[in-house]
Amino acid sequence: MSSITIRVANESDIDELVLLMRAYCDSSDEPHVAKPSSESLLTLCRTIVENPKDEGVYLVARQSINDNHRVMIGFASLFWTWTFLPYPGRQALINDLYVTPAVRGLGVAGSLIRACEDQARQRGDIRSIIWQTALENVSAQKVYERLGIIPSKCVDYEINLLK
Ligand SMILES: CC(C)(COP(=O)(O)OP(=O)(O)OC[C@H]1O[C@@H](n2cnc3c(N)ncnc32)[C@H](O)[C@@H]1OP(=O)(O)O)[C@@H](O)C(=O)NCCC(=O)NCCS
Repeated sequence: MSSITIRVANESDIDELVLLMRAYCDSSDEPHVAKPSSESLLTLCRTIVENPKDEGVYLVARQSINDNHRVMIGFASLFWTWTFLPYPGRQALINDLYVTPAVRGLGVAGSLIRACEDQARQRGDIRSIIWQTALENVSAQKVYERLGIIPSKCVDYEINLLK
């Protein structure tokens, strides 16, 4: 983990971030993971990176491969939203988490989650961070349990407006 760093994505990260998002979408055979165009992923990344105060941030992990180059190996998205329960105020949502297969099992996902927590704390107005994972995604659940994060008792519902 020593050669791995995590920070908030900026303009210079967008092209590589889109490639990782592409890899995430293409690697998943879960029916809920759509196959968006790279153009739509680019638009999403730009919107977030250009509006960190209102929209959220991407956390990106990079690993040194030599003195001059650090390759992107993972990312997490942290979006700002609102809630009124249990207290009215800001809430953060982790909507995506991905680590490239070659570096899995090294704790990168755990570090990305902790980096999300740091970002949310730094904002000063976030009361909680929420996210979901598929019931069958046991490897993701192990990451969260290892960090001591307990699953909530909520059941997720969705109205898919694209259908
Ligand atoms: C789920 C995912 C993000 C996990 O990424 P990761 O970087 O491999 O996760 P971590 O390394 O933090 O933890 C994964 C494994 O490493 C172990 N690990 C974590 N830190 C470790 C450490 N310091 N030393 C040894 N092992 C460690 C974990 O216990 C876990 O091991 P296990 O599954 O064999 O029990 C990754 O597999 C992925 O991108 N999957 C596809 C996308 C996805 O499912 N995203 C989540 C959607 S909610």
